[in-house]
Amino acid sequence: MAIPVVLDVDTGVDDACALLLAALHPALDLRAVTCVGGNAAVDAVVANTLTVLDAADRPDVPVARGADRPLLEEPVDARHVHGQDGMGDLDWPKSERQPDPRHAVELLRDMLLEAAEGDVDRRITLIPLAPLTNISLLLRTYPSAAKGIREIVFMGGGAEVGNATASAEFNVFHDPEAAAVVLDASAELDIQVTMYGLDVFYAPRVGQETARMLSAPGGRDAADLAGRLIAFQCERFGTVDATIGDAGAVCAVLEPAGVRRERLPVRVELAGTWSRGRTIVDRRDWSAGLHHDPHGQARSTIDVCLEVDAQRYATLWLDTVGGGMR
Ligand code: RIB
Ligand code: CA
Repeated sequence: MAIPVVLDVDTGVDDACALLLAALHPALDLRAVTCVGGNAAVDAVVANTLTVLDAADRPDVPVARGADRPLLEEPVDARHVHGQDGMGDLDWPKSERQPDPRHAVELLRDMLLEAAEGDVDRRITLIPLAPLTNISLLLRTYPSAAKGIREIVFMGGGAEVGNATASAEFNVFHDPEAAAVVLDASAELDIQVTMYGLDVFYAPRVGQETARMLSAPGGRDAADLAGRLIAFQCERFGTVDATIGDAGAVCAVLEPAGVRRERLPVRVELAGTWSRGRTIVDRRDWSAGLHHDPHGQARSTIDVCLEVDAQRYATLWLDTVGGGMR
């Protein structure tokens, strides 16, 4: 039975890599994609997402527009990383398809409430790959929708490193309040959460030569696009390979044994001058009792991915987008 999934994206070069994997792998049932402002403005994210789903020949997957800005922070995009159009400026044919008329939060509500009525194996795995604004609004506005969630596997945060700042990872830094709300609401609503953060995010990589083979003339649209996305990153950063980025979080749903995870208390720093948006992953041994700690243990304890079998996930992505899996 294919795993029902919904991706929440800010497409995004690596979000596009994740969308191709989710759209093409037979073990996943991609039910919908919701969009949020992040790497690019939300309307560009919607356009990019529809374009990627066209390349994957998946016109059946609804796409909905969500929050165009964070809960409190001013929106700041990442076009310096992802290009002016947010997806590598590839001049790829734009989709003619229209997004779903519902707001992303309403589409998520409808799908999750329907899933909650069905068999437990129809519960949906939410895979947020962007700032968590949509997910925070969903969980606070429609908490009963949580019954339709199997688990949340999100790309964000990090136990050891940052990228947007020395402390914080981009998705969490973009909307720290949303990330804090998602962790708090998940604890309150008993939702299983896995954090696929920067400790593993950069490791699964694909070489530029492999990318060139994917984009060989006459190849499938999806493979050609996948190769172009990797090639853009290699050119942008002057490297011989590039990370599959967000696609790694989808790999962690497909092959959970590919990551080593620890169940740890996690908080989001909201006030720090230099640390705002940091995911504070508490790796101390609480069984020994840390009563001296005035902060106490964080309310949210989640699975934090600390190591990844990078080759396994890179191969999984390549085998799928290269056309071997459908
Ligand atoms: O920090 C990496 C994250 O920020 C990824 O989701 C990437 O797409 C960007 O949104
Ligand atoms: Ca992203």
